[in-house]
Amino acid sequence: MFVFKPTSSLLFLLLSISYSASSVTSLTVPPRGGAPLDLTTTPQQQTDGDDDSLTYLWPLPAEFTSGGDTLSVDPALTLSVAGNGGGSAILREAFGRYRGIVFKNTAGVGFSFIRKLRERLVSSVSAFDVDTLKITVHSDNEELQFGVDESYTLLVPKAKESSQVTIEANTVYGALRGLETFSQLCSFDYTTKTVKIYKAPWSIQDKPRFAYRGLMLDTSRHYLPIDVIKQIIESMSYAKLNVLHWHIIDEQSFPLEIPTYPNLWKGSYTKWERYTVEDAYEIVNFAKMRGINVMAEVDVPGHAESWGAGYPDLWPSPYCREPLDVSKNFTFDVISGILADMRKLFPFELFHLGGDEVNTDCWSSTSHVKEWLQSHNMTTRDAYQYFVLKAQEMAVSKNWSPVNWEETFNTFPSKLHPKTIVHNWLGPGVCPKVVAKGFRCIYSNQGVWYLDHLDVPWDEVYTAEPLQGIHTASEQELVIGGEVCMWGETADTSNVQQTIWPRAAAAAERLWSQRDSTSQNITLIALPRLQNFRCLLNRRGVPAAPVTNYYARRAPVGPGSCYEQ
Ligand SMILES: *[C@@H]1O[C@H](CO)[C@@H](O)[C@H](O)[C@H]1NC(C)=O
Ligand SMILES: *[C@@H]1O[C@H](CO)[C@@H](O)[C@H](O)[C@H]1NC(C)=O
Ligand SMILES: *[C@@H]1O[C@H](CO)[C@@H](O)[C@H](O)[C@H]1NC(C)=O
Repeated sequence: MFVFKPTSSLLFLLLSISYSASSVTSLTVPPRGGAPLDLTTTPQQQTDGDDDSLTYLWPLPAEFTSGGDTLSVDPALTLSVAGNGGGSAILREAFGRYRGIVFKNTAGVGFSFIRKLRERLVSSVSAFDVDTLKITVHSDNEELQFGVDESYTLLVPKAKESSQVTIEANTVYGALRGLETFSQLCSFDYTTKTVKIYKAPWSIQDKPRFAYRGLMLDTSRHYLPIDVIKQIIESMSYAKLNVLHWHIIDEQSFPLEIPTYPNLWKGSYTKWERYTVEDAYEIVNFAKMRGINVMAEVDVPGHAESWGAGYPDLWPSPYCREPLDVSKNFTFDVISGILADMRKLFPFELFHLGGDEVNTDCWSSTSHVKEWLQSHNMTTRDAYQYFVLKAQEMAVSKNWSPVNWEETFNTFPSKLHPKTIVHNWLGPGVCPKVVAKGFRCIYSNQGVWYLDHLDVPWDEVYTAEPLQGIHTASEQELVIGGEVCMWGETADTSNVQQTIWPRAAAAAERLWSQRDSTSQNITLIALPRLQNFRCLLNRRGVPAAPVTNYYARRAPVGPGSCYEQ
């Protein structure tokens, strides 16, 4: 063992200041395999409240094994790439992001001073167990379509066997999921001031249980600035969620620029609470870099009053403003224009057309609409169906698969376009009916997966099961996944992230991990990991609320460790 005795008084002063809490006796640089800088005589001990013997991955990988070794990770960790997709800019940027996360604590001035010192002392051989992350991406196809392969294999070697951690994936998006898992295996050891991987060797074979793992954001009830939307997208990638359902517009405000109908965003709350097409493009691209698709929603014919601020003809009358006027061709011209403009912004193959909570009273009480209904021999219910199907045809003609809230299915199930994906919300038991009729389904039962319902505890979110009541494999395949919904009536920038997290993470594990994880005692199996994931979010700057709050998003009730709240 090489022992370095500080000779410079300046160095000694620096070390004394940095390590004044413990007695500094010597600065040692042990050979490869040990701790790189043993600055104290204090034995290693728990400093951050979590237990090294537990596996703190969230969501839990499909298959994994671990061992008993502890590895140190070089803060100068090198990325080495292979495969047709190895040169991807998405991969390179992601590595940079995760390096910032993993080595956050080792980036300080004092440490880099010591690192430089170490590099001078040990010039050729790394003093760390792991110095390279090798990522192999087989395909160079970066199209982020529905059902894209997100599987990956992550191998962490035994101590002294190799200095390389490997991630192998078919697509760059699988590699991103592997990077997130790698970052969760790394933890900062406050005693040695190095990043450690516990329980090596690791062998992880992972893939998602469902292809669609969504979070809905509502930017109509309250405007969310694009930086906030980006923060939320970033945090979604930590939980391996992969669809941002952007409920952009609703009856209260129309914040999005639509070049073909430039008066539509006169329906924004103010001229500052708007999204340009460039903003929307930026959000879609930011999400893609993190393997997240953006599914936009244009909710028709209800929930659209704000459209009339720019084009009052869209209202049945100035006194009766919802649903959109079914009798006018102009209504459908505007929808067609919106969809044409949006198609250029949203490449995801799913597009949400709403269709929920349509109260047709304005149609039957406004004379010209009533006459139109009579001349077309339609009831208001027929007109609702006519409207939804016409919008579906427009979306399908633009090569989108239409998604509609479940009321459309509940009202005219046999008439919907066969490509329709029915979005459940009203309660349990809907997806079984949907898939029995051959349609695909997204599970969002409001009793458990509406995040604005603050009285739903984490365990009810966690144990919700999208395949409940569906028993045949062919019908189970039609449930493409699920989504937690962050309706915005009582959530804005001041509280939206603590309302989303940590409960969205509970749903994220349900959607990513194998089903059998709920068959065990979740207070033992899941709660400590979820508490740890909440603290991970906090460390990464996400204002996730305590897990076991009586009401979601509330501040803690008293002093205590993050890991126990
Ligand atoms: C509205 O569209 C229908 C169907 O395309 C067409 O038959 C009708 O003439 C149009 N009405 C007006 C007033 O343009
Ligand atoms: C109007 O609709 C009803 C019920 O769908 C149908 O029985 C009737 O023949 C229709 N009348 C005309 C004039 O199309
Ligand atoms: C689950 O574990 C907790 C903590 O040990 C215990 O209090 C609880 O009774 C267990 N629940 C069941 C259903 O076994």
